[in-house]
Amino acid sequence: MPSHTSKAVTAIYPGSFDPVTSGHLDLIGRAATIFDRLIVAVARNLEKDPLFEVKERIEMLEAVTFEWKNVEIDSFDGLLVDFARSNGGTVILRGIRAVSDYEYELQMAMMNRKIEPQIETVFMLPGEAYSYISSRLVKELARLGGPVKGLVPPLVEERLRAKVG
Ligand code: PNS
Repeated sequence: MPSHTSKAVTAIYPGSFDPVTSGHLDLIGRAATIFDRLIVAVARNLEKDPLFEVKERIEMLEAVTFEWKNVEIDSFDGLLVDFARSNGGTVILRGIRAVSDYEYELQMAMMNRKIEPQIETVFMLPGEAYSYISSRLVKELARLGGPVKGLVPPLVEERLRAKVG
C-alpha cells in the first residue's frame, strides 16, 4: 500500500467525565476535526462516590456533543485497550492541561502501549482558557455554592445546580 493512502482513524477519548467540562468539550471539538470517528468513553466503576451516575454523564455528553456527527458516546468496564480494540480504535486521546498532568499521563500511555502496542496515545491541548478546569474542582465549587458559569456547558450547570444547589 503506498504510504500516502489514508484510512479512517477511530480515536477513543476516555475519562470519568463526572461531569463533562468546557475543557473536555473544547478538546472534543478539536479532535472531531482531526479524527474520522471519535468515541468519548465514560469509565464505569472508577470512583467510589461519583456525583453523577454513568447514565447521567452519558446523557449530558450526548446533549453537548450533538453538533458533531462523527462523535459517539459510550461507556466501558475493564481495560481501556480492550474497549478500544473491540471498537476499532487505534488512538487513545488524552488532554494535557499543564506539565503537572504529564507524569500521570505518561505512565498511563506507556502502560497502555505495553499491553497493546498497536494503539497509540495522542495528547492534545485544550484552549488555554480551559487549562485550569477540572471536574473535581467544578464539583467542589458547585457544592460550596460558587459560580460554575463558563466552566461547564450551560446544561451541565443546570444539572449541577439541581444536584447540589
Ligand atoms: O478522567 P480520568 O479519571 O483521568 O480517566 C482515567 C481513565 C478512565 C482514562 C483511566 O483510569 C483508565 O483508562 N481506566 C480504565 C482501566 C485501564 O485500562 N487501566 C490501565 C491503564 S494504565
